[in-house]
Amino acid sequence: MKTLRLQLRFLIPLLLTLVAAALIALPLMDQLTLRWFARDVNTRDALVASTLSDAIADAENDGKSWRLQQLIEHAVQDERLLAIALCAPDDTMLRQTTAFPRRLDCAQARQLARLPDPRLPLDAGAVHVGVHALSTEGGQANSLVLLHDLSFIDRRSQDTRRYLIIFMVGLGLSIALITVVVAQLSWRGWVKGMQAIIRGEGLLRPLLPPPELQPFASEVRARLRDLEDEYRRGLDLVAQWNPERLRSLLQTQLRGDQVIVVSNREPYIHERGDDGRILVKRPASGLVTAVEPVMRTCSGTWIAHGSGSADREVVDSHDRVAVPPQAPDYTLRRIWLSAEEEQGYYLGFANEGLWPLCHVAHVRPVFRESDWETYRAVNERFADAVAQEARSDDPVVLVQDYHFALLPAMIRERLPRATILTFWHIPWPNPESFGICPWQREILQGMLGSTILGFHTRFHCKNFIETVDRYLEARIEHEHSTISYQHKETLIESYPISIAWPEAPLPGPSAEDCRRRVFVRLGLSPLTCLAVGVDRFDYTKGILERLHAVERLLEKRPEWIGRFVFVQVAAPTRSALDEYRDFQERIHRVSERINRRFGQGNYLPVRLLAEHHEHDAVNELFRAADICVVTSLHDGMNLVCKEFVAARDDERGVLILSRFAGAARELKDALIVNPYHVEETADALHRAATMPPAEQRERMASLRMNVRENNVFRWAGRMLADAGRLRLRDRIDARVQRHTGD
Ligand code: F6P
Repeated sequence: MKTLRLQLRFLIPLLLTLVAAALIALPLMDQLTLRWFARDVNTRDALVASTLSDAIADAENDGKSWRLQQLIEHAVQDERLLAIALCAPDDTMLRQTTAFPRRLDCAQARQLARLPDPRLPLDAGAVHVGVHALSTEGGQANSLVLLHDLSFIDRRSQDTRRYLIIFMVGLGLSIALITVVVAQLSWRGWVKGMQAIIRGEGLLRPLLPPPELQPFASEVRARLRDLEDEYRRGLDLVAQWNPERLRSLLQTQLRGDQVIVVSNREPYIHERGDDGRILVKRPASGLVTAVEPVMRTCSGTWIAHGSGSADREVVDSHDRVAVPPQAPDYTLRRIWLSAEEEQGYYLGFANEGLWPLCHVAHVRPVFRESDWETYRAVNERFADAVAQEARSDDPVVLVQDYHFALLPAMIRERLPRATILTFWHIPWPNPESFGICPWQREILQGMLGSTILGFHTRFHCKNFIETVDRYLEARIEHEHSTISYQHKETLIESYPISIAWPEAPLPGPSAEDCRRRVFVRLGLSPLTCLAVGVDRFDYTKGILERLHAVERLLEKRPEWIGRFVFVQVAAPTRSALDEYRDFQERIHRVSERINRRFGQGNYLPVRLLAEHHEHDAVNELFRAADICVVTSLHDGMNLVCKEFVAARDDERGVLILSRFAGAARELKDALIVNPYHVEETADALHRAATMPPAEQRERMASLRMNVRENNVFRWAGRMLADAGRLRLRDRIDARVQRHTGD
């Protein structure tokens, strides 16, 4: 309709102009043709007169009057010459052809011939009157009166008018037709081109807006991006991110749309205890620590592997259970995996393949075809579960971690309109290291099914973009950090993960009480300097390097023997894998060796607590300690250090932090160390143990301010705000399509 109106606006004035042109042109054409034919008739008259001149003179001289008559009768056989008369100089008519009008005499003919328009109207139509003196050698000459038929001029003029009108109508129709076709094509092309550009596919699609519109379209697109960037910078300035703010963002920007989280590890594990009762355990998982408070705020559904021994006993017929158990806020949907599935997907491909591939910890990745097949099949099962749990065709799906590299593209197949936010909780390696993986293309393609792909740091984003550049034919826009692959755009962005900042005052005993209780439990003298490490029992955490540093401290500074104790909480993890078992055994051996070397009586410098500790117990330890040691060899972020900082509302305690943990980019007031450099870490332990309380307070206050501001609601808020922005862009695009019918 819109195109038709536009076309009519152009066509009606065009047709009116053509009609006006025809009305002006026709009389002009008449006058012109008349003038041309009059000139033509005069020329013909002169020609006929001169041709007849000699023959008439001869016939007159010979006195052959019959020959004279024959001559002029013969001349009027020309179809346009109607009649001829021969006049004497005194205007006596000497001869005339049969058709010469009786009412015209020689004198009248001479008068008429002198007029500018020498016409004589007759019954059969107008005739042109021409008088031409015949040539003579002396004396006065006779004249020839020639009457030319002018009816052919009218006939010609009518023909000309007809042809002119046909030409004008033809011209009008052709212009109209071309206009309609061009307008239709260019309107459609323009609209499609704009849509393609809005979707970011403009340069790949064959259907482009007209070239003259392209600079304009790119300008509009660039402005939109700039506005979005400005908006995102503005979001970064929001000082306080908290559950209320996140909730309001969900309501305003995501219009209360459904949020579905997918992770391997479940947030609550139901275990049957030795006494037969069902216990609820919280896993030692940074992922769970971060995502759980967000999920309590968003409600929605969390899909995860049901790994607890009593998990099946508490779910409903749809494998769902409301959590947290004491005050449910959201639904946990459990997926059951067979022992083979768990072996191939979790232990095999995820933890023997991808885990060492992404961490620079000098453990060789192992890739088995059978693990890969299982990994793919399990990802399919989770994709089916997402489709089952989705209440609309466009939920917001938060895919967590390296267990689900293929899941984003699989969800996209089932729910093309879903907004898929994938967060990769571990580092991303450089392209050369990633090249070890035999299924590199499949993994990248799977991840690029995401709307947004998040990493902890810009450095990991850069590694990922370079990896895609190396292994896929994709369009990368570095300025906006987007990758377009197979007509789908993915935003690659850094979102440093964090923890939920605890409400003040902290619940439970004071820091002093915690210290007293822990010291009694561990049998430590009150003057002991207590350092703690809390980790999953994983080779990436730098536990061995930490022990070496403790040993070196006691070697270098024997004054600490009997006064320095290091407690390592190591939550059992992946112990079914040889690499982990060997590592864990080695840590036991090294701890024992150090204790043998420096232990005295009840004094043991290293306490290895290789068992799961609930959150409260860990918190108590953090509040009791003088030092927290985080020496990861490579870590996406590491939340242990942030939890330590959050626990120290007394502004005491020192954090020693590996420069290879993502957190080192934020927590600059920690003592930053290279864990491979034993000497440096040992010196850091000494410096921390001797740090004056004022310096501790200063550093801790700054660290606390940082973690409080950059909390997990900011992490989720920035990601969900980006999702809301991209959903809005999609909605505008859909509206344009609906509007234009394309
Ligand atoms: O550190 C990366 C990470 O995925 C964490 O998010 C999570 O805590 C852990 O690894 C996974 O551990 P598990 O294999 O015990 O679930």
